[in-house]
Amino acid sequence: MSSNNVTLTTPDHSVSLPLVEGSLGPSCVDIASIYRETGHFTFDPGFAATASCKSAITFIDGEKGVLLYRGYPIEQLAEQSRFLEVAYLLLEGELPGTAEMAGFEDAVTHHTMMHESLKNFLRGFHYDAHPMAMLCASIASLSAFYHDTLDINDPAQRKLAAIRLIAKMPTIAAAAYRYSIGWPIRYPRNNLEYVDRFLHMMFEVPSEPLEMNPVAAKALDLLFILHADHEQNASTSTVRLVGSTGANPYASVAAGIAALWGPAHGGANEAVLKMLAEIGDAKNVDKAVARAKDKESGFRLMGFGHRVYKNFDPRAKIIRAMCHDVLDKLGVNDPLLEVALKLEEAALKDDYFISHKLYPNVDFYSGLIYKALKIPTEMFTVMFAIARTAGWIAHWIEQHEMPGGRIGRPRQVYVGAEPREYVAIDKR
Ligand code: ACO
Repeated sequence: MSSNNVTLTTPDHSVSLPLVEGSLGPSCVDIASIYRETGHFTFDPGFAATASCKSAITFIDGEKGVLLYRGYPIEQLAEQSRFLEVAYLLLEGELPGTAEMAGFEDAVTHHTMMHESLKNFLRGFHYDAHPMAMLCASIASLSAFYHDTLDINDPAQRKLAAIRLIAKMPTIAAAAYRYSIGWPIRYPRNNLEYVDRFLHMMFEVPSEPLEMNPVAAKALDLLFILHADHEQNASTSTVRLVGSTGANPYASVAAGIAALWGPAHGGANEAVLKMLAEIGDAKNVDKAVARAKDKESGFRLMGFGHRVYKNFDPRAKIIRAMCHDVLDKLGVNDPLLEVALKLEEAALKDDYFISHKLYPNVDFYSGLIYKALKIPTEMFTVMFAIARTAGWIAHWIEQHEMPGGRIGRPRQVYVGAEPREYVAIDKR
């Protein structure tokens, strides 16, 4: 047996399984032959210990609280980079030179318009539709508008789809919001940078120019960097699973948006703010912590806990510091910040949260910043989706570039009825 193998012994078999080594992180046991060799499958609900693919995009060490995009620490990117540069990095694997960055920015800027017919599509929604529903459906509908980028085997078409998705996501997101409040849709302005352009599409009215505090665009850009990718999380895995069937990029990313929406994933930022508002006052924090510990209550502290981080989420640390700064600079005095601080303090010294290794995650403070930027609560997960599009499409491209891709198709432990005879309806 090679030292790069592990041996699995069952009552009937002993099999040698190869170890797969990455450049960082624990090695993985390659179990592809296990059924053939032993007649057993493996059982790992929620994929807690299963690597679904090889990827060179993002690395997380959940014990140490490390997050790297293409090898660069998130702290350095947050401090020195900007979202579009990070999107380029995720897609291309390297930081761009000046000319490459200008080319990428120009391409994104010139693909921001949405097809006029998409407006008709949006008009089909009831005015109070959730913007995530509108975003998800609209992004899926792009495959009906851009037939020219649906050949998933053509690298140039894959790249064009990536540019289109990154460029159009803010336009469609802002349009969905404006539709819901009855404002006319604002076209993207090419003289503005990505995040500023988005804020103008959200908030500018036709009757007067928008005065934006530059702190708002800076804060949003930073949040977009922090949300841009997170290796094989639920929505990215969804994009890859759908992508593995050969589905087009718009359909694959729309599936990612649907997965992001759930409160256990990206929907947590909206849920955190609702929870803080329900707690209402710092004096109610202890009661909320007690309820979160009581399994019968069905209540969890939203914005707490993470499948991978068993230490501080490094993004939460950055956002926490930024939250104070942004609220100060924008002159916002939000009583919910005090509730959040008290809640964090109480949970971090509570035995239950300590023993379960539950720390604030990326979404604990992000909602307070979005609120300070006057972004409505239902749009919080949409903000996350705009940023994560860069990661989703980088993973989708990587999966098509990497040799050996197969359709994703898990097995199951069947716990249903054993074979039985059909009984006619009048005899049941
Ligand atoms: N509040 C109270 N208890 C919690 C919490 C929480 N927020 N999170 C986990 N626990 C407890 C569970 O009850 C369980 O306890 P037990 O072992 O005594 O039964 C234990 O911690 C492990 O929880 P799991 O649900 O098994 O952990 P998992 O890794 O499957 O889930 C998740 C991770 C979904 C993030 C979970 O911590 C959670 O629901 N958090 C709240 C929602 C949230 O903030 N989601 C955003 C995640 S970040 C992101 O997606 C961008």
